[in-house]
Amino acid sequence: MELLHSGKVRDVYADGDDLILVASDRVSVYDVVLPTPIPDKGTILTRLSLWWFEQLADLVPHHVLSATDVPAAFAGRAIRCKRLTMVPVECIARGYLAGLGLKEYEKSGSVSGVTLSGGLVEGSRLPAPVFTPTTKAPVGEHDEFMTFDEVAVGSGADVAASLRDLTLAVYARGAQIAAARGIIVADTKLEFGFSRDGVLTLADEVLTPDSSRFWPLDAWEPGRAQFSFDKQYVRDWATGTGWTKQPPAPEVPAEVVERTRARYVEVYERLTGVRY
Ligand SMILES: Nc1ncnc2c1ncn2[C@@H]1O[C@H](COP(=O)(O)OP(=O)(O)O)[C@@H](O)[C@H]1O
Ligand SMILES: [Mg+2]
Repeated sequence: MELLHSGKVRDVYADGDDLILVASDRVSVYDVVLPTPIPDKGTILTRLSLWWFEQLADLVPHHVLSATDVPAAFAGRAIRCKRLTMVPVECIARGYLAGLGLKEYEKSGSVSGVTLSGGLVEGSRLPAPVFTPTTKAPVGEHDEFMTFDEVAVGSGADVAASLRDLTLAVYARGAQIAAARGIIVADTKLEFGFSRDGVLTLADEVLTPDSSRFWPLDAWEPGRAQFSFDKQYVRDWATGTGWTKQPPAPEVPAEVVERTRARYVEVYERLTGVRY
């Protein structure tokens, strides 16, 4: 198998016409990969993605071929999928204001060309979820917001409309399922590609804590930074050491690793209702 790409957290191999997406136990905080892995994170996020692809299968075709037909060394944390021609757009849906969306709103009152009502604050629920696509920037550069028209120029008006509609549909389904389990999906990032027969297909990972902001519903309080379900302990610990968010990040003590692992297990179990 040929290693095509080694990302911060996942590795991508080509196997004939298929891709093998392998999730590691690496974790990034403020965009820096920590030197200490979180045991089982790769398996947990792989299982979560697989579960979501099934929940969404009636909304959108997806790229999963097999969760078991993967090299033994990656068993449990790899997915065999269709190799697609990727659309070079990060398809983001936002139901709440946070992160770069918040920054953009504070600057311009809009995100990706979508004007939002005034008076929103960090963590506010948006009147309706919005499609806020960005570019997929090469390593070392930052993704830039794209307007819907820019997506249409790059990918075609029909494709842009499909990307928007599918992204909002996936978000709505995900947010509804999660809300019933006490979790807010503040935003999520999806990627799509075309299969060989030209079908727009949901790819990458879906509705994991690495691609989404999950907040505990009972702690939600607009007007301040929200508690992040998965990474709050490790983030708070890291900044508490005086770390300046520049690489290298400090080694993580065993107790913080264990608590972080427990958060990933909890988010998986709460969403799926399945014991890890
Ligand atoms: N079915 C697919 N076909 C082709 N490329 C895919 C497919 N699913 C995901 N990808 C690509 O695989 C890569 C996964 O890399 P990732 O681990 O997210 O690293 P990073 O985003 O840090 O580059 C992304 O470039 C994504 O677009
Ligand atoms: Mg990625």
